[in-house]
Amino acid sequence: MNILLVCACALMSWASSVLGAPTTKAVDFLMPDVQPQQPDTYLCRSIDVSELQPYITEFIPNAQKEIAHHILLYGCTDPGSSDPLWNCGEMASTGSDLKSASVCASGFHILYAWAMDAPKLKLPKDVAFKVGGDTGINKLVLQVHYKNVSTFLPPESKSDSSGITLVTTNEPKARTAGVYLMDTGGTIPAHSIEYMETACPFREPTLEIHPFAYRTHSHALGRVISGYRVRDGQWTEIGRMNPQNPQMFYNVTTPGITVKKGDILAARCTMENNLDHDVSIGSTQKDEMCNFYIMYFVDGDKLVSDSFCAKPGPPNWYFTDYGNALNLEAMPETASTVPDSGRTLIATAQELQEPERLEMGRELEEEDEDPAEDEVLDKFVAGLSPREVDALVNEMMMSERYPASNDVMDDVKRQERLADVYEW
Ligand code: CU
Ligand code: CU
Repeated sequence: MNILLVCACALMSWASSVLGAPTTKAVDFLMPDVQPQQPDTYLCRSIDVSELQPYITEFIPNAQKEIAHHILLYGCTDPGSSDPLWNCGEMASTGSDLKSASVCASGFHILYAWAMDAPKLKLPKDVAFKVGGDTGINKLVLQVHYKNVSTFLPPESKSDSSGITLVTTNEPKARTAGVYLMDTGGTIPAHSIEYMETACPFREPTLEIHPFAYRTHSHALGRVISGYRVRDGQWTEIGRMNPQNPQMFYNVTTPGITVKKGDILAARCTMENNLDHDVSIGSTQKDEMCNFYIMYFVDGDKLVSDSFCAKPGPPNWYFTDYGNALNLEAMPETASTVPDSGRTLIATAQELQEPERLEMGRELEEEDEDPAEDEVLDKFVAGLSPREVDALVNEMMMSERYPASNDVMDDVKRQERLADVYEW
């Protein structure tokens, strides 16, 4: 009896020390007192997820908008560099001995974004981002875009430790968070308003996702970016924002919205180009971007397997190219209405471009000389699943935007390219 009691006691103390009471830890993930010397420097550092507890429930920014233009937190399978600090921006780091590399070398995820004194982001109850284990996220990478560097230069010569405090726990959560990213390629002609549009069917067979936050991103020409779920031809707004506002994650505009098989996700960026030259999608500030991020949770820990929806954009792809399922007549009239001003923008670019588009179409037809080649291609495409066709189109689009030296891109290269695309 005594022995049994002792055993039970020992077992319980063993259990409580191994299983433990849930612990919550705040981990600072900050720049190591850096002194960037040039405006628009992008610095990256990584942290191994083994140093963290596996569930992240809150992101607390430590930064000021006067110094940091943006901060992004990525999850990578492999980081772009094993150096403690590296240059992860567009510009080669002149006057610094830091090496330049992409954010991730493989396995690219976005977890959090901060800009313009955005407040902290606390995930909903029972929801966490999961890292480590079989998630494909082995490292977190912190990217800080330094805007103003004057305080780092003499005579002040200050240093900076901007970053994010991660609130982590070892207590498993019933729900897991993920990010789904919609974007386009394309060109906005000079002196025109243009729609950049993307739409994809949601194909997860059994998964239902719960979007709870969204984020829009463009550069200077974006006026309004809106995202929708289309279910049985009915459009429901997930979010709509003027991308000139702080580009942080906001609560979805339809709380409680869900997305499941059979739904279509659709997003439009309404862009206004008053410049004398065309502007295309690309990774520098002179280029444009059209991104709509959806932060969602699922019950359990299985996330969406394909979390990108990319389309070629104008003049090669519009909602009208999707097919009837999108039921365009039902699209809300506010899709191109800037929320804060109530101003609605109507595209002018298509009319402007129509003769040119027709011309392009003609050229393509003329190039189509070898019917045998066509037949082979048709057969090849007919043998693919819709998802493979989408992947192929995305791949072609990517290689158009970022011409590769050869047609075959291995996964690592593609990830690098994605990392390039999704840096600001
Ligand atoms: Cu930035
Ligand atoms: Cu950008």
